[in-house]
Amino acid sequence: MKALTALDIGTSKIVALMAEVDSYGDIHVIGLGECPSKGIDRGYITRLDLAVASVASALKDAQEMAGVKTSSVVLGLSGPTLKSQNEKDLLNIAPQPAEIDYSHIQRLIEKAILRSKEEGYEILDAIPRKFILDEQEGVIDPVGLLGSKISAEVHVVKIGSSLVKNTEKVILNAGLSINARFPSALASAEAVLTLEEKEEGVLLVDMGAGLTNFAVFSEGSILATGVIPMGGLNITKDIAHFMKITNEQAERIKIESGYALADVVNETERVKIKPRGEEREVAVSRKQLAEVIQIRLEEIMERVSESLSSQGVNLDTLHAGIVITGGSSKLAGIKEFLERYFDLPVRVGFPTGIVGLKEKVQDPAYATAVGLIKLAYKKHTEERLVSRSYTENRESNNSFNVYNLLMKIKSFFRDIM
Ligand SMILES: Nc1ncnc2c1ncn2[C@@H]1O[C@H](COP(=O)(O)OP(=O)(O)OP(=O)(O)O)[C@@H](O)[C@H]1O
Ligand SMILES: [Mg+2]
Repeated sequence: MKALTALDIGTSKIVALMAEVDSYGDIHVIGLGECPSKGIDRGYITRLDLAVASVASALKDAQEMAGVKTSSVVLGLSGPTLKSQNEKDLLNIAPQPAEIDYSHIQRLIEKAILRSKEEGYEILDAIPRKFILDEQEGVIDPVGLLGSKISAEVHVVKIGSSLVKNTEKVILNAGLSINARFPSALASAEAVLTLEEKEEGVLLVDMGAGLTNFAVFSEGSILATGVIPMGGLNITKDIAHFMKITNEQAERIKIESGYALADVVNETERVKIKPRGEEREVAVSRKQLAEVIQIRLEEIMERVSESLSSQGVNLDTLHAGIVITGGSSKLAGIKEFLERYFDLPVRVGFPTGIVGLKEKVQDPAYATAVGLIKLAYKKHTEERLVSRSYTENRESNNSFNVYNLLMKIKSFFRDIM
């Protein structure tokens, strides 16, 4: 199998991850390139030339390490304009129960996409969840089963067209093509969540530098996706502002001495800083530093909660609780903060299933990149499944719809493997 290349364009860093996936689904990382993000802000391109140079640099490093070239990438997308909705649709199959095949699922997806179309937005993903076959609820995979009508709820994720077009331009100008794109939150979820968590109900939060992406899973499938345009960088800027220090100093202090819960920090603890205009270092209260951090974290999580309740998600039903990932999940005390804020169990999510370069890549900041590889591989496996179904159906001369679907998926996955 040829290598897959994931590209995660974050607010603080761009990651290019090259990997081969074996038949067990394990990811053999063969190349990793990372470059500080320039000309990029929370998914938006703010300077084309700088953004192109950053992407090209990350890719060059990954290819050099891997010793192989790549011409296309699997792209993660997110930004303040990202939103999601669930569309319900019904498809009549036949008066007498007939076999459900992939073409029926595809038609349900297409109906949902059609209904979700909105000017200025592009559909990023459409994932069927919750099938009802005739009166039978809770059907997980209806393909191969018999029924007269099938209905599905499809989770549709969309994002502002200009963000997509500008990102595509950056990649094109860096000499690459895109062979698949996914919402960043779903990629991070794929990297860190277990099947059990998705089944029991879980909120995945990827808190980066400029964006806090989140996704809710229940009964094994995606229920809600969203983003808050704030992250660790806001915390750093708050610290810089409050303590009258540079962003660089604030970033260092946050990482070295920051804590997410103020009331567990001892009153007597001190942190040394060098404010602007001061000749010498001064000692400030670590508890105060934690207060600054906690206030911003509370604001971000309040907005996550608001967004979830507007999407009809009841957090009390998420028995697996919360999994936090992304670079900001490395903030000391974040697990305790979230446990207290949401009154749910919390764990920090590290990307799993990595074989090569494990020590380096098993870091929450690489969750999106690892997940992109996993999602791309999953799609490829699905394509093979449809391909097999097509061959079987062709033999029975009943293949038009499945053939069409196969061709669509094939063109979507052009060059991927
Ligand atoms: N040990 C740490 N303690 C606290 N914060 C940390 C730590 N390590 C990294 N961070 C924060 O993580 C953030 C970067 O996370 P990440 O790499 O996931 O972001 P990104 O993907 O570049 O951005 P985004 O997804 O928001 O566009 C920064 O704000 C950084 O300060
Ligand atoms: Mg990120």
